[in-house]
Amino acid sequence: MAVVGRPRRSCLAVPGSSRKMLDKARGLPADQVFLDLEDAVAPLAKPDARRNVVAALNEGGWDGKTRVVRVNDLTTPWTYRDVVEVVEGAGANLDCVMLPKVQAAGHVEWLDLTLTQIEKALGLPVGGIGIEVQIENAAGLVNVDAIAAASPRVETIIFGPADFMASINMRSLVVGALLPDYPGDPYHYILMRILMAARTYDKQAIDGPFLQIRDVDAFREVARRSAALGFDGKWVLHPGQIEAANEVYSPAQADYDRAELILDAYDHYTSEAGGRLGAVMLGDEMIDEASRKMALVIAAKGRAAGL
Ligand code: GLV
Ligand code: MG
Repeated sequence: MAVVGRPRRSCLAVPGSSRKMLDKARGLPADQVFLDLEDAVAPLAKPDARRNVVAALNEGGWDGKTRVVRVNDLTTPWTYRDVVEVVEGAGANLDCVMLPKVQAAGHVEWLDLTLTQIEKALGLPVGGIGIEVQIENAAGLVNVDAIAAASPRVETIIFGPADFMASINMRSLVVGALLPDYPGDPYHYILMRILMAARTYDKQAIDGPFLQIRDVDAFREVARRSAALGFDGKWVLHPGQIEAANEVYSPAQADYDRAELILDAYDHYTSEAGGRLGAVMLGDEMIDEASRKMALVIAAKGRAAGL
């Protein structure tokens, strides 16, 4: 039950091609930054972007942030060079590599072995660099359990809604928007499938981007849906979305206070009864071992958020 790993309530996308944006990202209050070599970078700009990303990681200033680089997916000619250049150049200053459009466990195994080789060659601790996988098409979702289990380096499973919607021919142009012709939430199954794999294999579950960057209220509304299910965080594409993500993926203060109260009361009454009571009353509410577990989830997230 990975409710707390590295902090990832807000995961900020930063194009590796823009030195200006790389510099600006250091000062923003995102939990994670991912320096992008994939879709935010044009093919001809990729070699320069690799150099920018290595320099930005080595220059430092990312204190307290989870530092990730998104490489290109394994159907392109760029992936191996992305991994080799970034990890050889800045492996000591990198927390995770993000692999997009993962379709099978073999994609993760390839990255795991490549990272191990580079870590050994550089004298870095083997296994120190984590992997984040993006699920962005039907094959990835069908194989998500095997993908999650493919390497102990996998830390997060990320929903990539834009590529996913395109790959299944969903008739919509707005990521996150409900469809007028479908009477439910078209993302529910995908989110739950990812969440089940994440919780089974002790990974974090991360929701993907919301592209209408000027509409922070709509961002909040979409984020609240995955936060309510149990997702740990969401991508942010613009500084204006960061505070909203940090807030939505932290428990509300009142819920956090209540969770700590449940934990205290349960410990107090059950130990007073010498361990013989399975359920106790807290005000009008009966609390038992399952309530304690639910309270632990909220309390752990609240403590990690500094509430
Ligand atoms: C993210 O990469 C997406 O495709 O939504
Ligand atoms: Mg994508």
